[in-house]
Amino acid sequence: MEFTALKGFKDVLPTESARWQEIETIVRGLFSAYGYREIKTPVLEKTALFSRGIGQETDIVSKEMYSFKDVKGRGLTMRPEATASVVRAYIQHRLYQQYPIQKLYAVGPMFRHERPQKGRFRQFHQIDVELFGDPGPMSDAEMISLAVCLFETVGLTDVSLHINSLGCPDCRPNFKEQLKSYLADKTASLCADCQKRAQLNPLRVFDCKVETCKSIVQNAPTIPTFLCGNCEEHFGSLKAYLRALDIPFEENHRLVRGLDYYNRTTFEIQTEHLGAQNAVAGGGRYDGLVKTLGGPNHPAIGFAVGVERLVALLEASKPMEPRKPNLFIAALGDNVGPLTFQWMAALRKLGLWVELDYGGKGLKSQMKKANRLGAQNVLMVGDDEAAAEKAILRDMNTGEQTDVDFRDLVSTLKDIL
Ligand code: HAM
Repeated sequence: MEFTALKGFKDVLPTESARWQEIETIVRGLFSAYGYREIKTPVLEKTALFSRGIGQETDIVSKEMYSFKDVKGRGLTMRPEATASVVRAYIQHRLYQQYPIQKLYAVGPMFRHERPQKGRFRQFHQIDVELFGDPGPMSDAEMISLAVCLFETVGLTDVSLHINSLGCPDCRPNFKEQLKSYLADKTASLCADCQKRAQLNPLRVFDCKVETCKSIVQNAPTIPTFLCGNCEEHFGSLKAYLRALDIPFEENHRLVRGLDYYNRTTFEIQTEHLGAQNAVAGGGRYDGLVKTLGGPNHPAIGFAVGVERLVALLEASKPMEPRKPNLFIAALGDNVGPLTFQWMAALRKLGLWVELDYGGKGLKSQMKKANRLGAQNVLMVGDDEAAAEKAILRDMNTGEQTDVDFRDLVSTLKDIL
């Protein structure tokens, strides 16, 4: 085949798209109950927005971005995540002047040049949620409870919540130094990437999937012992709020996440059913990012769900029944065409899924077609029915047949279907 989709880019086929629509509908309803409003930002942004926002030394910026120069030589990047873009829009449009607390969500495609595997794509979709303007642990708890509630509402229960605190600019440098010196005499055993990370951004070593690196960080110092009093109190209150909401969680002191903008709370919703790609959602607090990107010193927190991963898990746990037509009209003979065509249009306006055979075939072939579509009912109208002004409605599940008067056929069917 000459043309196929690019590696890591996938088509969402009609068999799957109903699930996507269902998720979006549920999620939009949930967000509106929590007071979140949608923001749509462009797919393309200046490269510097992401390199400064996400961090030069992260895997995303150093090796995964789809970046290019446009005809005028400007460095542009297909967004690898939504947070930096939402922050850019928050600053650019001074959204903070409108409401002191801004609650925003965005849905759309992201692009990362990663090695494709189960649950990992080069174009994937995120449902992204961000809250600006509040530094307190109650916002962290609300954000996490929203993430948990989202999974409950879409019907995915076999997931677990992992939380951590990464400290703040007061206490994290101390931890980084300790970690650096712990890694210093183990450099030779680290993978090539981690040898660099150990120097430039030692927290990233916690993220590494290479076995030797994983075993080295097993005994590395962890953050809790380095948290300052304020961070400890913040994390303690968050946990108290989560307990108050009966939200079970695991404290995972190695959960550093792959983006540099986080401080204090980080969290992930994880699954055991997607191989190495165990995170279905991830997020955290990023109090310094708005200022770093040129805005006011406003705190923020957010998370993003990977839609492909969510869809795959839902499909595996409870496959969706394909939608079926409410009615198939089997029109027979030359005289009933315009009338049945009219009925179909009127019933569709009422929101019913109605199909009609366009080829004017015999009853047997039309019934076959109705069956293949899974139609729940078939309305049979031939010359005899036209003469008697009564159509025959057949319930395809029970086989039961009833006469339906032409006169008020649309309103009768509206009630029955
Ligand atoms: P992230 O952990 O990089 O965080 O991505 C969030 C979610 O997107 C992941 O948990 C995963 O479900 C999905 N995801 C990431 N990469 C891929 C991929 N290559 N293929 C399929 N799914 C993927 C962020 O992007 C942050 N912006 C989240 C955030 C919002 N933090 C604060 N606010």
